[in-house]
Amino acid sequence: MHKLYVHPLPVRIWHWINALGFIALILSGVQIRYSDILAVLPFGLAVQLHNAIGFALIGNYFIWLLFYLFTDKIKVYHPDLNPARYYRDSLRQAAFYGYGIFKGRPNPHHVSVYRKFNALQSITYQIIMILLVPLQFYTGLLLWDVNGFAGSIELFGGVRMVSTVHVLLFIFFSAFIFIHPYLASLGHTPTAHFKAMITGYEEVEEEPVKDVAR
Ligand code: HEM
Repeated sequence: MHKLYVHPLPVRIWHWINALGFIALILSGVQIRYSDILAVLPFGLAVQLHNAIGFALIGNYFIWLLFYLFTDKIKVYHPDLNPARYYRDSLRQAAFYGYGIFKGRPNPHHVSVYRKFNALQSITYQIIMILLVPLQFYTGLLLWDVNGFAGSIELFGGVRMVSTVHVLLFIFFSAFIFIHPYLASLGHTPTAHFKAMITGYEEVEEEPVKDVAR
């Protein structure tokens, strides 16, 4: 086994604060939305908690963003500009998750420092981190002060549109919070990727390959 340092400290700090925060936002969001049938917390307290955690996570997002913007590690998020190779790798990865893994076949993706994500992780994490997470934060911010942000809400299509987008993203992240850890448990051992997100080091069986920047 060889060890590769794939998750630098700022990414790990951002990730675990973000993960706990998203769980708390989902739970407090459910409490706010269904306060008539569920009363674990008083409504006002649930709103205060939801707002405070939301602001904390917006700040925390900048740890992730600034780290990647100001280091060469941004290469892990660079899309593969060769569409044929990208589609081939995506299909292979999907076939592995859907079939190969149950037959004991090897993972087609080989981790390296600048290519730690497989083709499916790469596109998913790009969409989540550059589009969905900021959109969730932005719609949350608008709903936090509907009078102060009246102009921006109007531009967005009205308060119903803002809250619908916020709730649809809530549904997406509620599913993601289960699917993502499941996929993260499919390393060479069930805990391998979790340990890597704690220590920073991913264990790889083969000799680390020399990275090719794309
Ligand atoms: C129960 C909560 C969560 C657990 C147990 C978990 C676990 C993990 C693990 C083990 C990894 C490293 C392996 C991999 O890349 O698949 C990872 C990476 C990642 N997770 Fe999570 N996660 C959780 C919640 C979240 C949430 C809520 C988000 C975003 C909204 C998120 C976004 C990401 C991203 C973007 C990466 C790649 C980070 C990078 O290296 O830049 N995770 N997660």
